[in-house]
Amino acid sequence: MTNSSYCIHADGLRFAYSGGPPVLDIEELVVASGERVFLYGPSGSGKTTLLGLVAGVLSPPPGTLHVLGHDVGALSSSARDRLRAAHIGYVFQMFNLIPYLDVRDNIALPVRITTERRRRVDGPVDQAVVAAAAQLGIEELLDEKVTRLSVGQQQRVAAARALLGAPELIIADEPTSALDTDRRHAFLELLFKSVEEAGSTLLFVSHDLTLADLFDRSVSLAELNDRVSA
Ligand SMILES: Nc1ncnc2c1ncn2[C@@H]1O[C@H](COP(=O)(O)OP(=O)(O)OP(=O)(O)O)[C@@H](O)[C@H]1O
Ligand SMILES: [Mg+2]
Repeated sequence: MTNSSYCIHADGLRFAYSGGPPVLDIEELVVASGERVFLYGPSGSGKTTLLGLVAGVLSPPPGTLHVLGHDVGALSSSARDRLRAAHIGYVFQMFNLIPYLDVRDNIALPVRITTERRRRVDGPVDQAVVAAAAQLGIEELLDEKVTRLSVGQQQRVAAARALLGAPELIIADEPTSALDTDRRHAFLELLFKSVEEAGSTLLFVSHDLTLADLFDRSVSLAELNDRVSA
């Protein structure tokens, strides 16, 4: 893949967890830079697995998945970690917050460990953390340990962390599943504003099909993956 206007290009992407049955067999998936894609499919169909491959948490076979111009499967595990920290904001389905850090440091982590992300923050990092937290209604929790938070509060910390430093690619796995209507609305507003301002690409997984209209395109993983029976 040479066309840099593509953010994600899966080409003959096959994946199985070690010793397990095939989970993904995707002939082709192209996501253009700046595109906002809604990905849906039944539980167990491989949505989180696909996001994990795109974000480099899992390793695809070389040559089958390009993200932001990189052949993800050709990168070492630490190179994939660097690519993710610098260029990808990931709201994990299970949040993956760092238990021994408070809310403030969890949100700021990717920006503190990579200069690329820090450069994309408008003004001082501390202020940007407070502004993101305020928009998601968690500013009064900034000094709390994340282990003391409710599930919906943790989800908002994960969202603020993913959006800070306007990464080129934002991946969100069921990011609103634990939020009430008002919080969901505030998160989606912040998400779309951030994506719009930074021209980021957005890959968003949800079971809530009422959200699909907010996106440029909807992709059914079951259809994409039709050679693997879920
Ligand atoms: N770490 C793992 N090791 C082995 N198998 C796994 C692992 N994670 C997921 N799987 C298997 O891969 C398949 C796809 O799982 P995945 O989590 O990608 O589905 P999903 O579409 O995200 O489901 P959900 O909507 O429930 O989040 C399932 O059959 C699951 O059992
Ligand atoms: Mg999942």
